[in-house]
Amino acid sequence: MGEIQLAAVPMPPTNAQAQIELHRALAPRYAYRYSFPFSRLFQQDWHAEMMSHIPSGSGPILDLGCGTGFFLAELLEAHPKAVGLDISYDMLRVSDQYIPGAKLVTGDAERLPFRPGVFDVVFCKGSLHHTRDHVAFLNHCREALGQEGVLIMSEPCNDNPFIRLARALMYKKSQHFDVGDQGFTRKGILNLLDQADFDTTTVKKYGVFAYVFAGFPDHLGILKYIPGNYWITKGFLALDRVLCAIPGLSLLGFHIVTVSKPKRSTR
Ligand SMILES: C[S@@+](CC[C@H](N)C(=O)[O-])C[C@H]1O[C@@H](n2cnc3c(N)ncnc32)[C@H](O)[C@@H]1O
Repeated sequence: MGEIQLAAVPMPPTNAQAQIELHRALAPRYAYRYSFPFSRLFQQDWHAEMMSHIPSGSGPILDLGCGTGFFLAELLEAHPKAVGLDISYDMLRVSDQYIPGAKLVTGDAERLPFRPGVFDVVFCKGSLHHTRDHVAFLNHCREALGQEGVLIMSEPCNDNPFIRLARALMYKKSQHFDVGDQGFTRKGILNLLDQADFDTTTVKKYGVFAYVFAGFPDHLGILKYIPGNYWITKGFLALDRVLCAIPGLSLLGFHIVTVSKPKRSTR
C-alpha cells in the first residue's frame, strides 16, 4: 500500500474571523466618518431616533456591536449603566480612546458573556447583518433581555429594488464590505424576529438623502466640499422624516428601525 501524503488544506476563515479582519481596516474609517460636523449631525439624529424607544426607567443597556463607540457615548450620557460589546478589538480600541472608562467587552454576539436576563434594553445598530445565523443572534439578544426587555435595532433595508441593487454592487466591488452581509426586507426581518420569539411593536424606515449624502463621507464625500453642508444636512433630515412617514414613499428609506419585546410565552 502506498504512503498516504498529508497536505495542509487551507480552511476558509469563519465569518467571525472575516468580520474581525474587515473591521480592523474599517476602524480608522469610522473615526473619519464621524469627524465632520454635518456627518455627526446625521449620526446624532439617527442615534436620537433609536434612543427615543428606550422605555422610561430602564436600567442596564447593551450596545451589541458598538464598534467605535460613538452611539455608546451618547447612550452613556443618559444611561450610565450602558455596556458596549464588539467582536472587533480594533473597533473597541477607538471606543476606549473616545469614551475612557466605558465598560467595553470584546466578544461574539453568538456567545454573549452575560448572565441571562440582565439587560433592560439591547441595541443593535447595524450589527445583525454582519452575522450569518440571524435567528441565533436574535435568540441571544432575547436571552440577554429581562422579562420586560426591549430590543431596538436599525439594519440596512432592501425593500427598494434600486437600493438592493446599489448595495449588492457596492458590497461586491468594495473591499470595505463583505458580500455575505445582506440587508433585510421589512417582511424578512419581522419574520426573523418572530422566529426568535419576539413581538415587534414598532417598525419604521430611517434615512434617505441625509443617509446617502451625510452619513458616509468615507464613501461619498461630496457634501464636505459644499458650503453650508451642516444646514443642508438639517434640511435633508427634515425631508427624510417626512418621506419615511409616508407609506409609499418610505420605500426610499435605507434603514429599518424595529422595536421588539420577548413574546409573553417566553417570559
Ligand atoms: C456596521 S458596524 C456598526 C458599529 C456601530 N454600531 C455604529 O453604528 O457605528 C457593525 C459592528 O458589528 C460588529 N460585529 C460584527 N459581527 C459581530 C459579532 N458576531 N459579535 C459582535 N459584534 C459584531 C463589527 O465589529 C462592527 O463593529
